[in-house]
Amino acid sequence: MTKRIRKAVFPVAGLGTRFLPATKAIPKEMLTVVDRPVIQHVVDEARAAGIEHFIFVTGRGKAVIEDHFDINFELDRTLSERGKTRELEGLRRDLPAAGATSFTRQQAPLGLGHAVWCARDIVGDEPFAVLLPDMLHLGREPCLAGMIRGYEAHGGNLIGVFEVPDSETHQYGIVGVRDEKGAQAITEMVEKPAKGTAPSNLAVSGRYILSPEIFRILETQERGAGGEIQLTDAMITLARSQPFFAHTFAGEIYDTGTKLGFLMANVAYGLRREDVGPSMRVELDKLMGR
Ligand code: G1P
Repeated sequence: MTKRIRKAVFPVAGLGTRFLPATKAIPKEMLTVVDRPVIQHVVDEARAAGIEHFIFVTGRGKAVIEDHFDINFELDRTLSERGKTRELEGLRRDLPAAGATSFTRQQAPLGLGHAVWCARDIVGDEPFAVLLPDMLHLGREPCLAGMIRGYEAHGGNLIGVFEVPDSETHQYGIVGVRDEKGAQAITEMVEKPAKGTAPSNLAVSGRYILSPEIFRILETQERGAGGEIQLTDAMITLARSQPFFAHTFAGEIYDTGTKLGFLMANVAYGLRREDVGPSMRVELDKLMGR
């Protein structure tokens, strides 16, 4: 019997230096893909997967993320006075229930493993999900929902993966897998392998289901790749005593932490939208000279 996955951790403390000057006064997670902040897209994914509690590990300058997931009373009143019910309903729909969010701060930028560890008290002793907001998963079914189904079927820890070309393996966590009764058991993991040394082309896509034992390991985890406390390194230790499975997402993944990924996410999400999609297609065709 597996325990239900109720809580999700969103590490949102990163500085976003790759997007300066846009991120000088705005957290990178608040940059928009069409008209929704990146972080909202990822929270949408978690909600669609049945997550009930949303834990944000923030840092200095990230307070607007907390405001974003709160009621803006003045705005609501103005919208209501002006009869903008559709907008008002949209805002209400997007809002997690009262008491369903927690915010804690990563006091120093020590790495993803450290950020996740900062959520240990709020998560407590139950398996939980981690979603990295940079990575947008666009498909028919939300990525985390598929992972939770996999977790319910075979238990263990799960990592979302996607295929990347050889030229990109050094930018991600990479896993090696073996087929085990239809599931992809992870046999190897390495964080940002040096060029030419990756065990496969399966990159960690920023979606995880982890058992709470990871916190005990993170507690004493030494710095790894990039001088940071890496979640991947703690997972390598956990994998000695617990099974890990890879979950391949059936859809497109956009790494909005890169400029190209961010731009392509806007195009892909825009094209899917009923309001702007059709005219966007016409404009893009014109632009491409077709
Ligand atoms: C993190 C993880 C890495 C994963 C990546 C996905 O790296 O450590 O394993 O592949 O996210 O975006 P970061 O992008 O924070 O350097």
